[in-house]
Amino acid sequence: MNKITSINNLSIDFINETFNLADKFKKSWPERKKPGIGKTICLLFFEPSTRTKLSFEHAAKLLGFNVIDFSPLTSAIEKGESFEDTIETLVALKIDGLVVRHPKAGISKEIVKLLPENIFFINAGDGNFEHPSQALLDVFTMKEHVDDISKMKIAIIGDVKHSRVIPSQKALLALLRCKEVCYVGPTDLLLENYEPSKTKINQDMFSDLDILYVLRIQKERFEQNENVDKGSYISEFQINKKFLEFTNFNGMLMHPGPVNIDMEITKEVAHSEQSLFLKQIENGLYVRMALLSLII
Ligand code: CP
Repeated sequence: MNKITSINNLSIDFINETFNLADKFKKSWPERKKPGIGKTICLLFFEPSTRTKLSFEHAAKLLGFNVIDFSPLTSAIEKGESFEDTIETLVALKIDGLVVRHPKAGISKEIVKLLPENIFFINAGDGNFEHPSQALLDVFTMKEHVDDISKMKIAIIGDVKHSRVIPSQKALLALLRCKEVCYVGPTDLLLENYEPSKTKINQDMFSDLDILYVLRIQKERFEQNENVDKGSYISEFQINKKFLEFTNFNGMLMHPGPVNIDMEITKEVAHSEQSLFLKQIENGLYVRMALLSLII
C-alpha cells in the first residue's frame, strides 16, 4: 500500500504502525533515521495551505528526502498544459512520490490512476472529499488525552457540510470503534446522513464530552446559493467563555486550522489551557514523518 487517497485505504495495522512511529519520533526528537535519502518527493498544492504543506515539507527534509515544491502559478499549467500532462511530466522526471492538495473533490482517486505502482501518493486534501493525514494527526492527538478512543465522547461543531477533514475523521473514528460522535451546528452546515446531530445549544449539553472539535466556516467551498448569517452564527455557535460555561464543557478543544478568530471561536478560548490547537500542529509533523517513512 503506497497510495493514500482516503482513510478507507488504510488497514488498522497501518494506522497503529503510523501512531507508534509518530510516537517514537516525538519521544526521540530530534534523533531520527533518514529513510528518504536518495528519494525525491514533489509537493503539488493547488490551494493555499500553511500547516499541511509546511509540515509535509519539513517532515520530508528531516527524513532526508529531496523536496520539489511545484507551484501551479509559475508552471506550464499557466500556458494551458493539462493536469494529467503535468502529473505525467513529474513521473517522467523520476520523482518517487507526490503529495497533492486540490480544490476538486475526489481528484486524488483520478491522480492515482495516472501513477505507476512504484510512486507513492498522499492526498493532502481534495475539495470536501477527504484529508486523511489531518484525521490521523487529530486522532493521534486525541489518544494523548483520552485513554480509550472507543469510549471517547466527541462533538464536532460548525461547518461539517463543507469539511474534508470530517469525512476522514468519521471513517477513522469508526475504524477505532468510537461510537459517541455528535454533529452540531446550523441545519444548513450539517449533513443529513451524519447522525446524531443537534441544531440547538442547550444548557449543560457538553458536560460529559471529552473533545469539542471546532470547524471554520469554509466559504471557499460554498455554492453560489449558500450563505451563513455571521451574526446569528456567532450568537448561537461561537465558542467563547459564555458558551463553555453554559454548555458546561470541561474537556479539550480541537480545531484543524486555519482558525478564524472571533468567528467560530474567540482568541481568549483558542489560546486557553483547554486548547490543543498548537499540539495538533506539532503532532502533524510526527504523524507526517511516520506516514512518509512507512509509504516509501
Ligand atoms: N488543516 C489544514 O489543512 O491546514 P492548512 O490549510 O494550513 O494546510
